[in-house]
Amino acid sequence: MKSNARRSPARIVLGLLALCVFPLAAGSVHQPSHAAEDVCCKAGDTTPPNELVKKVPPGLLNSPYPDYAKLAKEEELVKQYRLPGCNECHGGNGGGGICPPLTQGVWFWGNTDDILFRLIALGSQELEKQGFVRYQYGSVHAPMPPMGFTVKTSDQMWKIIAFIRSVNPPGTNPPETVLPGKFAPAGATE
Ligand code: HEC
Repeated sequence: MKSNARRSPARIVLGLLALCVFPLAAGSVHQPSHAAEDVCCKAGDTTPPNELVKKVPPGLLNSPYPDYAKLAKEEELVKQYRLPGCNECHGGNGGGGICPPLTQGVWFWGNTDDILFRLIALGSQELEKQGFVRYQYGSVHAPMPPMGFTVKTSDQMWKIIAFIRSVNPPGTNPPETVLPGKFAPAGATE
């Protein structure tokens, strides 16, 4: 009886099946998500801006320099703004040149940290492709070019954004006035 049972072909098939199924079952165990531990964003972050916009879901980019006025007193932020050549279009101190001034307290796409970071990194055409909708046009109906390759680190991007805020009239920046990024209605894109 015993030897018969051991040799039973049905048992061998079952055993083989178990061997095949086990790794599949083990593979389906859920990995714990680690989204909570890296809340964005940190001062001194050397991640290239283009990587950060891919990694962090829309709405979740937050400046590590909320007190931009203090930072502007401590550092010459205008240097960070001129380094990638923003001044060639927006003027040496952001007051406008061949492109809209950045000093007017008017925000075409919104004025949150998240929107400004994405607009400068991706440019206005890519921002639109990703489903964002503008509030208004400026006097120049040209697209803002993608500058995410030219601005080397996310830290530099946050300093440039701090500069832009520091040259705008009081009350036009968060936390006083928040113009969040607008999304196209679901299904409107693609
Ligand atoms: C080739 C010219 C050009 C360069 C270079 C350029 N911009 Fe722009 N920028 C534009 C144009 C044109 C617009 C208006 C885009 C629109 O209406 O969508 C714009 C819009 C903006 C806005 C939105 C302004 C608002 O009132 O909402 C910000 C912020 C901005 N640029 C920042 C920058 C920064 C920072 C840099 C450098 C890293 C830069 N730009 C480089 C042409 C340029």
